[in-house]
Amino acid sequence: GTVPKRPAKEEFGGLVAALPRKHQAGLELRLYQGFWLPDHWVAGTVVFQRRFAPRPDDVILASYPKCGTTWLKALAFATMTRDAYPAPAQHPLLRLNPHDCIPFLDEIFADGQEAKLEKLPSPRLMNTHMPHTLLPESVTGAAVAGCKVVYICRDPKDMVVSLWHFLRRRQPELPFAELFEHVCDGAVAVGPIWDHVLSYWRASLARPDRVLFLRYEELLQDTGKHVRKLAEFMGRPFSPAEEGAGAVEGVVELCSFEKMKGLEVNKKGSAGAYHAMPRDSFFRKGVAGDWVNHMTPEMATRLDEVVRDKFRGTALAA
Ligand code: A3P
Repeated sequence: GTVPKRPAKEEFGGLVAALPRKHQAGLELRLYQGFWLPDHWVAGTVVFQRRFAPRPDDVILASYPKCGTTWLKALAFATMTRDAYPAPAQHPLLRLNPHDCIPFLDEIFADGQEAKLEKLPSPRLMNTHMPHTLLPESVTGAAVAGCKVVYICRDPKDMVVSLWHFLRRRQPELPFAELFEHVCDGAVAVGPIWDHVLSYWRASLARPDRVLFLRYEELLQDTGKHVRKLAEFMGRPFSPAEEGAGAVEGVVELCSFEKMKGLEVNKKGSAGAYHAMPRDSFFRKGVAGDWVNHMTPEMATRLDEVVRDKFRGTALAA
């Protein structure tokens, strides 16, 4: 018979209580393995690290929050399910928010719901905000079969702006300058952002077959090119016949910002994930460079300098 597992919060409560903590921008944070995690995620993260059993055809979509998670989830889901829904008008993404199509690992483990993952059919698509260094050894280890990981990053200046608008849905009084300080200090949820980006950058150089590194701005510039890359990486390249039939353009169009923002499902209600944030909070402006409307040139230079300094010696510094 199976012995019921103790809830993670109980089992690892002592570990969590011993970690450095900070209360910032309405969140209780704990410093765990070099990153500031939301307090209520830590115990679940330990369970994720120790007990997650990847399947070789799993794909984990990873991101720093507000860097294009929703878009990446939509693109990957549309790409993976294109055979099941050849008629675009029937696609689940027209009825469901991307966060309701792909499970969010960090919350699933925080809530002790990991049994749900075992029931999912293969190939599984899942997402996480954990840095690469905090992913389970079963995923990243050199000696294990692991699984594929796709990462999306974004100009940190636009990330702060996007994060501020998102957090303001819950804390209307949150000053932009306060959040900006926390980001520059590295003490924000799953921060420091530069260490987060570096963790995936290094992994993508070491194991390009395992980790695909994407940028939000490059996706905006040529979405089709990156959908092809994503499909190939996930082991589902578009065939010449599909190319001829416009399948890539179909995915791009289905997942475009205007299309998704305009859907009834994304205008009302809240997503099951992300603490039931309103679905429309995931579709704000969808552009690069909106930071100019929110920060002074001095602030922009400061954040750029902080990040450039951390990226020194890598190709990311360019
Ligand atoms: P802005 O706030 O700058 O508009 P995440 O999905 O990681 O939470 O990131 C949210 C950001 O991605 C928001 O940025 C949002 O508007 C943008 N976004 C959401 N869906 C998108 C899409 N289909 N295409 C482009 N950008 C999208």
